[in-house]
Amino acid sequence: MSLLIKNGRVITAADDYIADIFIEGETINEIGNNLLLKADKEIDASGKLVFPGGIDPHVHLDMPFMGTFSSDNYETGTRAALFGGTTMVIDFILQKQGNSLQAALDEWRGRSNGNCIGDYSFHMAVTDFNDNTKKEIQGLIEKEGIVSFKTFMAYKGALMIDDRQMVGLMEEVKKHGGLINVHATNGDMIDYLIAKHRAEGKLSPLYHYLSQPEVTEAEASERFADMAHYTGCPGYIVHLTCEGALNAVRNATRRNQKVFVETCIQYLLLDASLYEKNFEGAKWVMSPPLRQQKDQETLWAGINQGLVQVVATDHCPFKWEQKLMGKDDFSKIPNGAPGVENRMNLIYNGGVVENRISLNRFVELTSTAAAKMFGLFPKKGTIAVGSDADIVIFDPEKEHTFGVENEHMNVDYSSYEGWKMKGKVETVLSRGRVVIDKGEHTGKQGDGQFLKRGECVKI
Ligand code: URP
Ligand code: ZN
Ligand code: ZN
Repeated sequence: MSLLIKNGRVITAADDYIADIFIEGETINEIGNNLLLKADKEIDASGKLVFPGGIDPHVHLDMPFMGTFSSDNYETGTRAALFGGTTMVIDFILQKQGNSLQAALDEWRGRSNGNCIGDYSFHMAVTDFNDNTKKEIQGLIEKEGIVSFKTFMAYKGALMIDDRQMVGLMEEVKKHGGLINVHATNGDMIDYLIAKHRAEGKLSPLYHYLSQPEVTEAEASERFADMAHYTGCPGYIVHLTCEGALNAVRNATRRNQKVFVETCIQYLLLDASLYEKNFEGAKWVMSPPLRQQKDQETLWAGINQGLVQVVATDHCPFKWEQKLMGKDDFSKIPNGAPGVENRMNLIYNGGVVENRISLNRFVELTSTAAAKMFGLFPKKGTIAVGSDADIVIFDPEKEHTFGVENEHMNVDYSSYEGWKMKGKVETVLSRGRVVIDKGEHTGKQGDGQFLKRGECVKI
């Protein structure tokens, strides 16, 4: 099967030019002007932007968490991602404390194998680092292609590890060429504040926010950077939200340390005033919580200063009936929100249309940087001869409105209901196959491939 995309404006992290793209099978075969090649199918992309498929390196699909499961499974979640121009996701396996990493990998394979529509990979969350777990790290990196290890400095009693385990894990991961991801907030302090608020009868979603003040994230981010510096292990902070935490990263650069930073679209565009809506605020109960407007400005500035490299989603949806598990107690509201389908459109509108970032930076933030950091480049993350034909044809003029009735995530509300957008994902290719055709889905369950990843490339 061959396909020719004609006359699109091709944008990569570095380039911006009009060209034709010829695709043979799953990969890009030729790029040039007025290509005189016969293809089985032709798409006219005149007036459209042509981006590499988005990569969202932070999603939680079908994940057991807080007494329930995130509501998008591997089929619905990867389909929604494709609708939003994201052709690859990286999901999190969670080790159960007391069990092996292999057992967790088997469990996650059981839910994901044969179900994805778009391509995917896994990070491994190590929640119990001990002598046995230590022996499993090398095999995961070298045999399974799982090269990134997630750690939680919070969720005390469930997922959190202590600093002793963190340093031990860092030494082992560094030895075998992997990368440590971290949820960097101070779990002990948060645990104390949750208990205090509950004891005082302060039980609404607002107290979820007030139990995780900025200092909890700033302190943990600095501690993480220090441990990464000491061990020499590459570190990546997931879902960084605030000025204090970004300052910890900035401080680390003064000793020439590079700590990679991901923020998420909701922290750039939403703020904590949403928690004042009584229980409706539960829609945005996530960890860390939304912050203040000054933090949004800091994050956009951090993007332009090169301190923030990736914009992900932390897509972890729960239906309203699941959120109601915490109607009388904020600490029982499942943490997380939907967003994988919204991300590319939102950052285009909020970033490019609002003149905060260039088109090249848009591509870098939504695709290229994650491909490099997570060992997928240049197979993924760019438009080049030999790369996978994961391509988004984007209409920069199309105006549309977000709303749950137009979305495909398995959740009954939208975090951005009624938001007016300029620019829309129109057609999406996954390894050469058209999977979204002018807003219609044409892929099928099982088409998505698991990708073994290589070494992290520093950017
Ligand atoms: O609230 C969130 N973020 N839920 C998913 C788990 C995590 O901490 O990333
Ligand atoms: Zn987290
Ligand atoms: Zn997460």
